[in-house]
Amino acid sequence: MEKQPRDSRKGPVPREVPPAVRLLLAMALMNALLYLCLGRVFISPQHYSGNPGHCPYGHFKIGQMKNCSPWLSCEQLRTEVRQLKCAGEGAVKRVFLSEWKEQKVALSRLTSLEMKEDFLHGLQMLKSLQSKHVVTLLGYCEDDNTILTEYHPLGSLSNLEVTLNLSKYQHMNTWQHRLQLATDYVRVISYLHRSPLGTLVMCDSNDLPKTLSQYLLTSNFSIVVNDLDALPLVNHSSGTLVKCGHRELHGDFVAPEQLWPFGEGVPFDDDLMPSYDEKVDIWKIPDVSSFLLGHVEGSDMVRFHLFNIHKACKSQTAAERPSAEDVLDTYQKVFNSLRDTVMSQTREML
Ligand SMILES: Nc1ncnc2c1ncn2[C@@H]1O[C@H](COP(=O)(O)OP(=O)(O)OP(=O)(O)O)[C@@H](O)[C@H]1O
Ligand SMILES: *[C@@H]1O[C@H](CO)[C@@H](O)[C@H](O)[C@H]1NC(C)=O
Ligand SMILES: *[C@@H]1O[C@H](CO)[C@@H](O)[C@H](O)[C@H]1NC(C)=O
Ligand SMILES: *[C@@H]1O[C@H](CO)[C@@H](O)[C@H](O)[C@H]1NC(C)=O
Ligand SMILES: [Mg+2]
Repeated sequence: MEKQPRDSRKGPVPREVPPAVRLLLAMALMNALLYLCLGRVFISPQHYSGNPGHCPYGHFKIGQMKNCSPWLSCEQLRTEVRQLKCAGEGAVKRVFLSEWKEQKVALSRLTSLEMKEDFLHGLQMLKSLQSKHVVTLLGYCEDDNTILTEYHPLGSLSNLEVTLNLSKYQHMNTWQHRLQLATDYVRVISYLHRSPLGTLVMCDSNDLPKTLSQYLLTSNFSIVVNDLDALPLVNHSSGTLVKCGHRELHGDFVAPEQLWPFGEGVPFDDDLMPSYDEKVDIWKIPDVSSFLLGHVEGSDMVRFHLFNIHKACKSQTAAERPSAEDVLDTYQKVFNSLRDTVMSQTREML
């Protein structure tokens, strides 16, 4: 892609054309090539499917590894993994950039024994949900309260603006790539809502920064979910609903049905708090997407095209909100139609 500008000078431009027009033509040609090229880049990740490395259950493959390796044991975690430096921390885990066989890996350690239940739930989910949507598990040791996962140097989605501001990644800071990230995010939610275990709700997401911190940006700019510590199961056929924690929630980032419904006169009581379903995740999509779209040229045009689907996500009545699959469909249609429009406009300019 970086080599594009060279080709744009090759076109036969007659002598008598004024320099301004020549410049415009060159720019249009560059844009056309860029969009055609980007189009290919965007389509390719969709052909990539299955879990990373296509390893059988209990095995993994990362980086340059030729074969699948079984998850590392306690013994291997203790002797083969070298802890380097802290890479992040949450309420449940402290995460260390570490080294295993000359590869960078992420070693998570339980911060406090009080959180052991969440830690074990997260580990169970990691084991069960290994796929291209979930960070790759490399090993674990319940006795030591450690989990080893693939390391993603770009960190969590909280770092997105900083990452896209680095000169190395500025060419990715376009509405096209940002809409692809939003699509990826919805794809992960859709996966959790239709997971092999059933409909899982991403509960650890009571505000935007918290939500962003649960997802990692991979080196090839896709999104994987990393923190699965609070992922309760909804079962519509048995009428099993969920609650995200036992405390009162506030604000408009969480869905209206997650708020205490009995007014300020009645003190919060978890036993009286009604439960809800996976549509709380749908409510949050417009806010996360809007963050991912950011403020670059074209972001507002994309927001405009997503207006109706986002409005539906914000239905006060949970049952009226679309499914994650519906949202994903709309995002893909918007992406394709905007890409086609931009390409035909560019062709007209020529
Ligand atoms: N594999 C990884 N590669 C790079 N950074 C990571 C990785 N895993 C975790 N991190 C960093 O560590 C942070 C905390 O991780 P994580 O969300 O798993 O911890 P937690 O204690 O479960 O969080 P919470 O407070 O949400 O429960 C992440 O937001 C991210 O910045
Ligand atoms: C993403 O990057 C990893 C290396 O970090 C590579 O092994 C993998 O094949 C890439 N995936 C896609 C879809 O390009
Ligand atoms: C982006 O980088 C510029 C300088 O390169 C800096 O002034 C600006 O604050 C940065 N913005 C963000 C969001 O990091
Ligand atoms: C949901 O509940 C029904 C009825 O109780 C049960 O048959 C089914 O296995 C449950 N599904 C999941 C994913 O737990
Ligand atoms: Mg977290």
